[in-house]
Amino acid sequence: MKDELIIQSYRKPYQVLFVEDAPAVLAGEIREGDAVIVDRKVLNLYRQKLEPIIEDHLVMEIEATEDHKSYDGVRPLIQNLIENGFKKNHRLIAIGGGITQDVTAFMASILYRGVNWIFLPTNLLSQCDSCIGSKTSINFGNYKNQIGGFYPPQLILSDPSFLDTLDDREIRSGLGEMAHYFLVESEEAFSRYEQVVEEALERGPALKELIRESLAIKKRMIERDEFDEGPRNVFNYGHSFGHAIEGYTQYEIPHGLAVAFGMDIANAQSVRLGLIDEKLRHRVRSTLCKVWKTVDFPEIEIERYITILRKDKKNVGTDVRVILTRGLGDMYIDRIAVDEGFVSILETCFKEYQEKL
Ligand SMILES: NC(=O)c1ccc[n+]([C@@H]2O[C@H](COP(=O)([O-])OP(=O)(O)OC[C@H]3O[C@@H](n4cnc5c(N)ncnc54)[C@H](O)[C@@H]3O)[C@@H](O)[C@H]2O)c1
Ligand SMILES: [Zn+2]
Repeated sequence: MKDELIIQSYRKPYQVLFVEDAPAVLAGEIREGDAVIVDRKVLNLYRQKLEPIIEDHLVMEIEATEDHKSYDGVRPLIQNLIENGFKKNHRLIAIGGGITQDVTAFMASILYRGVNWIFLPTNLLSQCDSCIGSKTSINFGNYKNQIGGFYPPQLILSDPSFLDTLDDREIRSGLGEMAHYFLVESEEAFSRYEQVVEEALERGPALKELIRESLAIKKRMIERDEFDEGPRNVFNYGHSFGHAIEGYTQYEIPHGLAVAFGMDIANAQSVRLGLIDEKLRHRVRSTLCKVWKTVDFPEIEIERYITILRKDKKNVGTDVRVILTRGLGDMYIDRIAVDEGFVSILETCFKEYQEKL
C-alpha cells in the first residue's frame, strides 16, 4: 500500500507521498518541458542525488532569502520560463524549503492563468507544515507575505533523508511548530507528542511519525476551512506572540521556536484570565522547554515588543487579537487589552526564558 495522504482542495485533490528516495520517484514523474526551481544550497548539498531530475531540464537556482521571495525575485524566473518555451501543460518542480515553495507556488498560480506544480520539501518546517494548505505568498517591499492566494501543488514528495543536513536548531524549530498542531488537536494528541518529543529531537523514528501526524491534523482542518476564513484560525495559536518575537529578534529566534515561546505566553495569559489552571500550563511548558532548551533568549524591551505585537494586521483598536486556550484541543480567538496584567505576564515570561527556568 502506498504511504500517502490525500488532501481535498478547491482545485482538485492532491497527494503527499512519503518516500525514502524522492529523487528517484521524481525522475519517473518528470516530463519533457517541466522546469525545476531549486534552492541553491540544497542543490549544492544534494547535486548527485538530484542529477536524474536536473539533467535535460530547465533548472533555475534560487537563493532562499526573503528578498528573493518578491516581485523582483520572481520577474527573472518568469522571463526565463517564457523565453525557454515553458508552456501551460508543463509543470514547475520546486525543491527546497518554504521560500522555494512560496516562490514556485506564486508563479504557478499566475503563469498562463495557472500551471501545475510539484513540491519536494527539503527541510523540516516545509515537510511538517507548509507543504500542505495551499497558501502562496510573496513579500511586498518590507511587508511580509502580502501578495498571493491559495494554489496547492499536484503532488508533494516527502523524503526524510533530506533532513540529514539540517542543524539541531532547525530540528528544534520544526518540533516547536509541530507542537502547535498537537496542542490544538486534543489532549490525546498532545500526550503522544509529549511521549516522543525527546526521541524526535534525537532524529529517531518518532520524528517521521510526528511529521505525518502534524500533516494529518492540518489536513483535517484545511479540508474544513481551506481559505482560512474561520476554524483554521486556531492554528495561529502561539503565532501572534511568536511573530513578534521573530520580528523583534530579526529572525534570530527561528519561526518554530518563536511559536513555542508564543504558545507558552498564550497559556500564561490564559491562566491569568482564569481559562486554564497552572498545572496544565506547567505540563505544556515542561515539554516545550525540551524543545527550546538550548536557545539563548535575548533581552526584550517590553514597549518595543508590544509595538511590534500591535502591528499584526488582524488587530483592531487598542486590544490585541490572539488565540487563547481553555484546555488542550480547545483554542479560540479573543481580543485582549494590553493592560498591566498583560504586560506583567510578558515580563515574567521573558525573564524566565532568559534564565532558562
Ligand atoms: N505557504 C505556506 O503555507 C507557508 C507556511 C509557513 C511558512 N511559509 C514561508 O516559508 C518561509 C520560511 O520557510 P523555511 O524556514 O522553510 O525557509 P527556507 O526556504 O528559507 O529554508 C530555510 C533554510 O534551510 C535551508 N535548507 C532547506 N533544505 C535544506 C536541507 N535539506 N539541508 C540544509 N539546509 C536546507 C535553506 O537553504 C534555507 O537557508 C517564509 O518565507 C514563510 O513565510 C510559507
Ligand atoms: Zn507557523
